Amino acid sequence: MKKRNRLRAMKKRQRMMVLAVVAWIVFGALAALAIVARETDESGSVTVQVTPAALSREAEAGEALFEANCRACHGPSAAGTALGPPLIHDIYNPGHHSDEAFYLAVATGVRQHHWPYGDMPAQSQVSRAEVGQIIRYIRELQEANGIVAKSY
Ligand code: HEC
Repeated sequence: MKKRNRLRAMKKRQRMMVLAVVAWIVFGALAALAIVARETDESGSVTVQVTPAALSREAEAGEALFEANCRACHGPSAAGTALGPPLIHDIYNPGHHSDEAFYLAVATGVRQHHWPYGDMPAQSQVSRAEVGQIIRYIRELQEANGIVAKSY
């Protein structure tokens, strides 16, 4: 009789352990989902909060050029839209996407590779010198948002 009680108690403890493990896995999965959902809407596009920066003169010129040529897809303050990714994003830190990547993107366009938006068409109406100013704008905004060069 006593032995059976002990056995029952042990089985109960085992069930509790299994329950705890299952609860832990479910909780972990939900937490991971919540993180993904915060950044991504159902189309997979990403937008970010951008802290404004005190811009240099060159970056201000770049801002106007960005507004005219890039904002439609990359969004206000390069925060992203449903048509293009945020450029104020760690993926585009200077160590991962150098200035040359920006010149190249504007001159020749970009094949879809990082995101689900499709290709970026070349923006050949924008001169290389103008891209230089846009880069200043993006880099100053990136820095104000804690995005700095990392080596890969
Ligand atoms: C018609 C929409 C559109 C316009 C306009 C546009 N872009 Fe893009 N851009 C995209 C998309 C979409 C991507 C992401 C491609 C990928 O990685 O999947 C992209 C990617 C980029 C990249 C990353 C390149 C790389 O090597 O991964 C840079 C830099 C960039 N754009 C800069 C610009 C600048 C600067 C302008 C304005 C002169 C601009 N874009 C205008 C849609 C656009």
